[in-house]
Formats: sequence, structure tokens, C-alpha cells
Amino acid sequence: MSPVYSILFAIAASTVSTSAIPISESKDVLRLDANGSFQLSIFSDLHYGEAEDTLWGPEQDIQSAGVINSVLDNEHTTSLVVLNGDLITGENTFLHNSTKYVDTVVAPFVQRNMSWASTYGNHDSDFNLSRAGIFAEESKYKLSRTKNMVSASDAGVSNYYLPVYGKDCNVPEFLLWFFDSRGGNYFQQKSSAGKPVPQPNWVSQSVVDWFSKTRSALEKKHGRVVPSVAFVHMPVNAMAAFQATGVNANREPGINDDNPLAQQGSATGQGEVSGTTFTYGGQDIPFMQALLDTKGLKAVFSGHDHGDDWCFKWNSKLKGMSLTGNGLDLCFGRHSGYGGYGSWTRGSRQVLLQKGKKDVETWVRLEDGSVSGRVTLNGTYGQDSYPAVRS
Ligand SMILES: *[C@@H]1O[C@H](CO)[C@@H](O)[C@H](O)[C@H]1NC(C)=O
Ligand SMILES: *[C@@H]1O[C@H](CO)[C@@H](O)[C@H](O)[C@H]1NC(C)=O
Ligand SMILES: *[C@@H]1O[C@H](CO)[C@@H](O)[C@H](O)[C@H]1NC(C)=O
Ligand SMILES: *[C@@H]1O[C@H](CO)[C@@H](O)[C@H](O)[C@H]1NC(C)=O
Ligand SMILES: *[C@@H]1O[C@H](CO)[C@@H](O)[C@H](O)[C@H]1NC(C)=O
Repeated sequence: MSPVYSILFAIAASTVSTSAIPISESKDVLRLDANGSFQLSIFSDLHYGEAEDTLWGPEQDIQSAGVINSVLDNEHTTSLVVLNGDLITGENTFLHNSTKYVDTVVAPFVQRNMSWASTYGNHDSDFNLSRAGIFAEESKYKLSRTKNMVSASDAGVSNYYLPVYGKDCNVPEFLLWFFDSRGGNYFQQKSSAGKPVPQPNWVSQSVVDWFSKTRSALEKKHGRVVPSVAFVHMPVNAMAAFQATGVNANREPGINDDNPLAQQGSATGQGEVSGTTFTYGGQDIPFMQALLDTKGLKAVFSGHDHGDDWCFKWNSKLKGMSLTGNGLDLCFGRHSGYGGYGSWTRGSRQVLLQKGKKDVETWVRLEDGSVSGRVTLNGTYGQDSYPAVRS
């Protein structure tokens, strides 16, 4: 079978200028539901496309679709699905059809007429798979809300925001921010020694600049701070620094089995195949600073570390860090796919935003239908006591 290389060369990342506002106010905007709520279901680390030449590879993707369907059957008030990185395991895919896995990943949402928004992870870039290719495939669907708002060549692809409106269309009730923490290997590049060429695995300065500029422009345009939440595949270093001080089973309920966790700028994570050569050197400090500087930002949600699913309130100067937290909540999602390392019960983090409420409700819906680690991210999160979670 001869690979159809031409498909890949036909794909060009469509980019929008960095002077990012406004998105055309289409009729198809996201809106609060009749109760003034907006629920998000986050699927992290689905890892489709592993070992297609075996029996278990294709079977595994069927099981991952089972997780998605089970979660959405139980969470029928979800307004938006978030795919928070590692949709595909790029190091296992073939050049001729690597982006076709996108169609398999989104099939349950298409079937349910639900829209989704993605960030891309480190496994979404490899010798045979490109982020631009995934974006082009997603963009064939009207239901995809994934965008590319930063055209700088080092930015990655999935950097954008989405407004969520109430009844009127003038000022959004919430903003959803999506960032690309890059990583993996560059598409179709080999070193002179024939090795894959690793891509930096942190949010780039060009994206931080766009974020700062766009956030200020939006605040000016709307005449007020719009509350927001953010999504990025790889966690920031504050999560690693907090974990080193001890995650409390009652105050930060969740599994905490990837310890130490792998954060932006860190070396290869547990169980990764392609490997990167970066060592943590504070590469995400500008990004963390920008998050702290964002008034109204309630929480940031990451994936990547399949064995962790807790949230913590960053409200101090953690050991080894130059930045001081201001009460921002940082959360892991839950490993959703049968692909990727680990056999913790698969699930999906749910996030409930409510008009006029400062607090964010969040819980993990597991594949077996049960709920794990339900907490309220409010002013006393981190002091309140919750039941511990069984892994
Ligand atoms: C609105 O709230 C009612 C009562 O709690 C609930 O039954 C219904 O499912 C909610 N609707 C949505 C869209 O969330
Ligand atoms: C890339 O895909 C081609 C065929 O599509 C395959 O022959 C090759 O082994 C793959 N390379 C890697 C590094 O996965
Ligand atoms: C990609 O091609 C391989 C064989 O070349 C096949 O096993 C696999 O099912 C294909 N995947 C998709 C998503 O089309
Ligand atoms: C899908 O949802 C959109 C709005 O979200 C609606 O306009 C359209 O009619 C729905 N399509 C189907 C087939 O239900
Ligand atoms: C935060 O939520 C928890 C759990 O619902 C509750 O016990 C606590 O009193 C709340 N704190 C504040 C300040 O509302």
C-alpha cells in the first residue's frame, strides 16, 4: 500500500492574526443553560491509535469510546466537551492516516450533536503526526470549537479563547482560555543521527504575550473583568512544587500516584515512548505569572500525569519557586482513555460554572458511573475537609 503523502502537504494550519479580538459574533455562540449554568466535561489523555497492528490496539479505542459514552450518559447537562490533550498517541501512528483518528475520537460527540474544544498534548506531535494536521481534521466539523489565534511559528496550535454568553450577546458571562503546552517531536524531522527532534514542552513566550494583550483588550472592550477558567495539557510547575509539600487526602482529595509528577519543561514523563530531552529550568514562569496576573481567573485544568487527579489552591510561595500564589486553583483532570500508561479507573473531570457565583463546582465522573472527589473551589478550598478518594 502506498502512503498518500499528498494529503499531508495539502494541510496548512489556518491561522488568525494575533490581534485576536473580536471573534465574529456568530449565532452559534456558547450560552449558559436555562438554569444559568455552564457544565464542561473534560476528557484528558484519550491516546487513540496505539498499536494498530495488534488486537489490543483497536479494541482499546473502542473501550475509550465506551468511557466517553458512559460519562456523557451520566452527565446529561454538559454544555461543552473539552479534549485536554493527548487525543492521539503520535509515536504509534502512520503518516498516511495519522490524523484520521480525530474522526474516531469525536464520533461520540458528533452522534450526540455536542460541540467540543481541544488543547493538544505532547503525544499529539510526532514524526508521523502534526498538530496542524489534527487541527485541519477537527476543523472539518462545525461542532469543533478548537481555534488557532496565535500565528507565531513557535506557538503550537491550540491557543485561543471562547466566550460564554447569557441571554444577550454583548458581554460574556465567562471566558474559556485554551493553551498549547507543545512537546513531543517535530513532524517529519529527524536529527543527523536519525533521531526524532523534540519540541519544547511549555507554553511559549509568544503565547504569553498574546494572552496578556488579549486579556487586557477584552477587559477594556467589555468594561469589566469577565470570570474565566483555563485549560492546558501539561501542568505548571506550581503543581509539582505543591505536590512536594504533600497532597492531603482530605483537603485535596484525589489519586496522587504520579509522584513526582511531570510538569511543563520537565524531562520525559513516566511511560512515555518517544522521550524528550528537556529538564525543568523555569520555562513556564512567564506563563504562570500571566495566569496569576489574570483577574477573574478561577481555575486551570491540566492532564498529562495520568496518576494524579487532585486540585489545590495556590495561595503561598512554595518551596523552590520565585512566584507567590494568589488563591488560583489548579486541578488535574482524570485519565480518560484506555491508551497511555496506567490502569486507574478511567473517568472525566466535570466543571460547573454558575452565573453570579464565584465558586466552581467540580467532580470526577468515573466510567463505572460513580462520582469521585467532588469539591467546591471556593475561598476555603484547601482548608475544607472532604472524604478521601479510593484509587
Ligand atoms: C435545571 O435545573 C433543574 C432542577 O434542578 C434540573 O432538573 C435540570 O436538569 C436543569 N437543567 C439543565 C439544562 O441543567
Ligand atoms: C511513519 O509512517 C510510515 C508509513 O505511513 C511508516 O512506514 C513509518 O514506520 C512510520 N514512522 C514512525 C517513526 O512511526
Ligand atoms: C491507518 O492505517 C493502518 C494500516 O495502514 C490501519 O491499521 C489503521 O486502522 C488505520 N487507521 C485509521 C484511523 O484509519
Ligand atoms: C444540533 O444542535 C444545534 C444547536 O446547538 C441545532 O441547531 C441543530 O438543530 C441540532 N441538530 C440536530 C440534528 O439535532
Ligand atoms: C466552601 O465549600 C465547602 C463545601 O461545600 C463548604 O463546606 C465551605 O463552607 C465553603 N466555604 C465558603 C467560604 O463558602
